Amino acid sequence: MTAPLDSVTPESIERLQAEAIAEIQAAGSPEVIERLRSRYLGRRGLLRQASSALGAVPAEKRPLVGRALNEARRAIEEALRQKSAVRPPAPQEPPFDFTMPGRPRPRGGRHPITATIEAIRDIFARLGFEVAFGPEAELDYYNFEALNIPPDHPARDAFDTFFLETGALLRSQTSTVQIRVMEKRTPPIRVIAPGKVYRPDTVDATHSFLFHQIEGLAVEEGITMADLKYVLHEFARGFFGKDVRMRFRPSFFPFTEPSVEVDITCFACNGSGCALCKRAGWIEILGAGMVDPNVFEVVGYDPERYTGFAFGMGVERIAMLRHRIDDMRLFLENDLRFLGQF
Ligand code: PHE
Repeated sequence: MTAPLDSVTPESIERLQAEAIAEIQAAGSPEVIERLRSRYLGRRGLLRQASSALGAVPAEKRPLVGRALNEARRAIEEALRQKSAVRPPAPQEPPFDFTMPGRPRPRGGRHPITATIEAIRDIFARLGFEVAFGPEAELDYYNFEALNIPPDHPARDAFDTFFLETGALLRSQTSTVQIRVMEKRTPPIRVIAPGKVYRPDTVDATHSFLFHQIEGLAVEEGITMADLKYVLHEFARGFFGKDVRMRFRPSFFPFTEPSVEVDITCFACNGSGCALCKRAGWIEILGAGMVDPNVFEVVGYDPERYTGFAFGMGVERIAMLRHRIDDMRLFLENDLRFLGQF
């Protein structure tokens, strides 16, 4: 396709020019255009080669050949310029189909534990309880000592926890918040304190190293156990249904005296005995009691003047009862098939 260098003529240059322009116009991509640019106009391109053969052309023909070369360069440059200015055609968009169903957007929702905490919080709000929070990484003092659990006392076992390298620990009960609230404020006090707690328990259907509690605390002059009973019964009726009955069983906590374990009638069988309550008719829902005078001493309240009650419930347990969930691990697994049901 290229004229032999020793026989460069106006005609051979015109042929080269025509060939170049045809190829440029047929080029399908910017890469091909660039390849053609260097093939014809590059430093070792075909026009250069033709120019260097100019010396061998007889002198009287040189101007004609030179002119043909200039014309070819101009025409090829122009063809390249025009070709690069043309944008590749945009891929054809399919026409918009207004009848196509939209893409579903999955809706988020609250985690069942959050929803349970909020439902409980709303009931206590109507009874005049504010919400308080405390840290999860706590000092021994708040998790144990101030709650009437001295170092080396066996009562520590029931609230064993994870100890951090800093000397702090992960709280194993929200009762820590009782102390933190009383330290900052003076009675009357009515607070609930929801939050995470930690215990070195082996994970199974009803145990976890991490779970949630809601603490309650009321301190005023003249508060009695009747107030505790009233408030808890109102909560149980609001949460489990208005026919629910409640009973107190004697128990022990280091920071309450007397202490009780609180049961409600099974809301599945109304107390006659079924699988949910294991035929007992009663279901334990929380621990409670009257604030121990030693705890008041610790925070500087006069135990002769003030009395109070406290309670603590496990949120997972209550959510499991309410929704008939049989495995606590489901709360932590982030499985949307489970979470989507709430
Ligand atoms: N903190 C106790 C627990 O985790 C529950 C409790 C709270 C009991 C307040 C009495 C008063 O088991």
